Amino acid sequence: MRAQRPPSLRQSKVTSAILEATKFKNECDHRCVRQTALKNWAKIVSALLVPLILGVFTVVQTLQQQKISSLQRKQDQYQADNTQNEDIFAKYIDDVSRFILKQNTFLSQTDKVYLRTQTLTALRKLDTKRRSQLFLFLLESQLLSGAFSLCNANLNNIDASSEWNAMSEMDKMNESNDFYLPNVNLRNASFARRLLRYSTFDGSQMDNSNFTSCILWNTTFVGSSMKQAVFQHAIMDGVDFSNAKLVEADFTDALLVGSINFVNTDLLNAKITSNQLTNSVLLNARLPNGSFTLLAVENILANSDGEDSHECNDEIYGWEIEGNVRLQAYNESTDVKHGQCYFSGLEGSQMKQKVDLINFTLLIDNHELAYNLSVYLASGVRAVLTFIDKDMAVTAVPSGKLR
Ligand SMILES: *[C@@H]1O[C@H](CO)[C@@H](O)[C@H](O)[C@H]1NC(C)=O
Ligand SMILES: *[C@@H]1O[C@H](CO)[C@@H](O)[C@H](O)[C@H]1NC(C)=O
Ligand SMILES: *[C@@H]1O[C@H](CO)[C@@H](O)[C@H](O)[C@H]1NC(C)=O
Ligand SMILES: *[C@@H]1O[C@H](CO)[C@@H](O)[C@H](O)[C@H]1NC(C)=O
Ligand SMILES: *[C@@H]1O[C@H](CO)[C@@H](O)[C@H](O)[C@H]1NC(C)=O
Ligand SMILES: *[C@@H]1O[C@H](CO)[C@@H](O)[C@H](O)[C@H]1NC(C)=O
Ligand SMILES: *[C@@H]1O[C@H](CO)[C@@H](O)[C@H](O)[C@H]1NC(C)=O
Ligand SMILES: *[C@@H]1O[C@H](CO)[C@@H](O)[C@H](O)[C@H]1NC(C)=O
Repeated sequence: MRAQRPPSLRQSKVTSAILEATKFKNECDHRCVRQTALKNWAKIVSALLVPLILGVFTVVQTLQQQKISSLQRKQDQYQADNTQNEDIFAKYIDDVSRFILKQNTFLSQTDKVYLRTQTLTALRKLDTKRRSQLFLFLLESQLLSGAFSLCNANLNNIDASSEWNAMSEMDKMNESNDFYLPNVNLRNASFARRLLRYSTFDGSQMDNSNFTSCILWNTTFVGSSMKQAVFQHAIMDGVDFSNAKLVEADFTDALLVGSINFVNTDLLNAKITSNQLTNSVLLNARLPNGSFTLLAVENILANSDGEDSHECNDEIYGWEIEGNVRLQAYNESTDVKHGQCYFSGLEGSQMKQKVDLINFTLLIDNHELAYNLSVYLASGVRAVLTFIDKDMAVTAVPSGKLR
């Protein structure tokens, strides 16, 4: 009969046991869950905190590392540049020294081209410090007196100042420098305390250049751009600044001894007194205060009326003749005389004269110049006036009233 125990009870017991067990387990589970939940929260929080701190730390560290590595990169770059500069410089000095030693005193055209190419290429690559050193090397090697052309070379910012004062350089006279540096880039270059004789800086770009305490003898700066150049305490004699731009140049305490040429020179706002300028040639120039010193020109044409000849049948100088043009004496009995001689030409003939206005460019550019062309013409003769600018372009053919 046991066997007839309703299985359901057992089942239900078992069921309940299972249920109880389950229940217990569930309770346990529940507790466990709650406990672990708490633990997990703490874990999660601390787990979060650590990465957070790590995160913040990493961010800070990353920033610092970036900064350091950026500095390191810069340092490396600087060292690389420096090494590269040093290599280029050393190679240049080595090559050129060897080359000069091999040559005799005479440099052929090919030698000059070689030196020019090497030098200009090196100057393009080098930093200011090395370029200054290269310049001093050329000076020591006596290659700056026109041995080869440095035209267009980049010598901006070089420091070619002397440690000695120019007066002491004078004692060792043959150590004075005759620089031949026309059409060179010398902006902000310093030649302070140098003794310069028979040097040429014509057409060079020399804004902000420094000639403080220099002695300048027979040196030319024709057509150079020298804005804000400094000539403080300089002593100069026979210096040619014609056509130069000396705007805001500083001549404080400079001694302008002999005749200094300021023809067509722009001295606007330059620091120079009229006392300093007393021995100077100031023609067609703009003075510091903006006023112009006008050159009174009687006639810019040479032999304009044929009167410069001794005899009216002399050769015609000053003019380019095409065809048949002759000088003739006026007929005493019939002609209205304008002097002794006149020009007479066959039909189709021409006489031309080109007038260089280089000494008037400052006046022209500032609209300070007017011209007056007057001609006595026989019928059938024409006068033509053509203006040509520095690029050889015809700028205007004015049809003024001719007399
Ligand atoms: C001019 O040269 C001096 C060194 O002689 C340098 O310190 C300065 O930075 C240069 N100025 C310019 C504008 O390059
Ligand atoms: C200057 O030149 C003379 C003669 O040319 C020479 O005897 C003398 O040693 C030179 N002086 C210097 C400092 O180079
Ligand atoms: C010019 O050179 C002198 C001498 O080296 C220096 O004392 C002066 O500051 C320089 N002037 C300018 C404007 O750079
Ligand atoms: C400058 O040149 C003139 C003319 O050539 C000459 O008489 C004079 O002695 C020279 N001055 C100097 C300091 O060399
Ligand atoms: C400018 O300066 C010159 C020379 O110092 C002087 O003769 C002239 O009168 C001045 N011009 C003006 C407008 O101040
Ligand atoms: C000057 O003109 C007169 C009149 O036309 C002429 O007779 C004479 O030959 C001329 N004299 C000369 C030198 O041409
Ligand atoms: C310009 O002036 C100078 C004097 O400074 C003179 O020697 C030169 O012949 C003149 N040039 C022309 C083309 O008139
Ligand atoms: C131009 O020159 C002529 C000849 O010298 C002169 O008679 C005339 O007055 C001048 N004209 C002007 C506007 O200066």
